[in-house]
Amino acid sequence: MKQKRVHIVTMGCQMNVYDSEQMLRLLAPLDYRPTSQLDKADLILLNTCSIRAKAEHKVYSFLGRLVRMKRLRPDIIIGVGGCVAQQEGYRLVERAPHIDIAFGTFALGRLPSLVEQVKDQKQQVVDVNPRGSSEPLCVKGPVLKVERVTAFVTIMQGCDNFCTYCVVPYVRGREVSRKPEEILEEIRLLVENGVCEITLIGQNVNAYGQKNSHGCDFPALLERVHDIEGLRRIRFTTSHPKDLSDRLIDAFCRLDKLAPHIHLPVQSGSSRVLRRMNRGYTRDLYLKKVARLHEIRPGIAITSDIIVGFPGEERGDFEATLDLVRQVGFDSLFLFKYSDRPNVPAAKFSNKIPETIKAERFSTLLEVQRELTLQKNKALVGTTQEVLVEGPSKKSPNQLTGRTLCNKIINFEDSMARAGQILPVRIVEAFSHSLLGQPVGKGHGAHSGENGGMSYAA
Ligand code: 5AD
Ligand code: SF4
Repeated sequence: MKQKRVHIVTMGCQMNVYDSEQMLRLLAPLDYRPTSQLDKADLILLNTCSIRAKAEHKVYSFLGRLVRMKRLRPDIIIGVGGCVAQQEGYRLVERAPHIDIAFGTFALGRLPSLVEQVKDQKQQVVDVNPRGSSEPLCVKGPVLKVERVTAFVTIMQGCDNFCTYCVVPYVRGREVSRKPEEILEEIRLLVENGVCEITLIGQNVNAYGQKNSHGCDFPALLERVHDIEGLRRIRFTTSHPKDLSDRLIDAFCRLDKLAPHIHLPVQSGSSRVLRRMNRGYTRDLYLKKVARLHEIRPGIAITSDIIVGFPGEERGDFEATLDLVRQVGFDSLFLFKYSDRPNVPAAKFSNKIPETIKAERFSTLLEVQRELTLQKNKALVGTTQEVLVEGPSKKSPNQLTGRTLCNKIINFEDSMARAGQILPVRIVEAFSHSLLGQPVGKGHGAHSGENGGMSYAA
């Protein structure tokens, strides 16, 4: 059989990065191999994100670019999966008739049969049906040959929180946790293939195991992952502040492999706005959790998500957010301007904030955070950090790139180091998005082992 090529465009969060890998795994038995070149592909898949209006616009503009390609090569199969497909379903194929397959978040496992269906019947297919209760959450089978040292592993899908601005519970469904044994097996396989850092992912990992009878909650799962031999570093994302228990915070002290970084979306520094967002915590409670994190693991890096211009956000609310940002001293922030999403309660809230005010608040906060991040990074100059080498830097190929334990990107020159090594690197210069370093120690005698090894919501 002639080998065919698939090109996947992944938009959005880490969940989608993981799902795209699952698509490749599912398509391998149909003889599809990945290609990074769009014009060489027989099958083009878009794994989409609908979290904000901007993300959705990106999908349609990309699809627009494919119209001419499909006209010239009608045998190409174009599939759109992920959250926009789940949300839009038949509307998507009406708006973009050159699509062959629209497959929602629950239809991922059915992708091979949808591709076969298009080939056999030469007609469009739409699958936005819910997941069957007996279907597995993740694809089983051999781990794809991995050429990187870090990997994401999904531990749960969906969300039960219904923050009033968020589309996730509608497009990803209710919380479902994977069985611990399945997760552990997947990590073991990845480690055998050279992965040394794992990021456990889910919309709200803190709620792992709360709803089912797997007999293992998130802190317990972390302990079991920690026991995996050869695994060097563990990270997780995303944590909902309301579900961040003391036991979980204590894990940062108990578990050596747990990297000292937490992504803890606050969304707003005003308790009034937090209530209208249905976040389930107050500003004070958030600050208490942050204080405990600092107490348990001094030096822990904390990053966050903030939405500016939520309906009804007054000047005083925004100032409370600015104040919280300064008080916490986040290592970095993901900032978003509120946008209405289909069917979410906030879309019907009155007192929408004009775009000009949103833009003003956005740039004020961005400037404050840029300065804070730079200060934090500058404070590291002269210190030595443990760095996991990920490979050559994309921007300058004579440099290597890696991450510190606190998840900061660091670039440095070292002709001997290889991906998978953990090295002590001295920080010589700090920028707002990265650090510049110099490896410590002659001949790298100080290397601590080789290849013993890489928001969303909440
Ligand atoms: N508008 C703007 N930002 C949003 N987010 C989620 N929904 C919206 C929305 N409707 C942001 C939140 C979340 C991050 C992934 O996206 O900050 O944590
Ligand atoms: Fe769930 Fe996070 Fe969306 Fe809230 S913001 S509904 S916690 S995914």
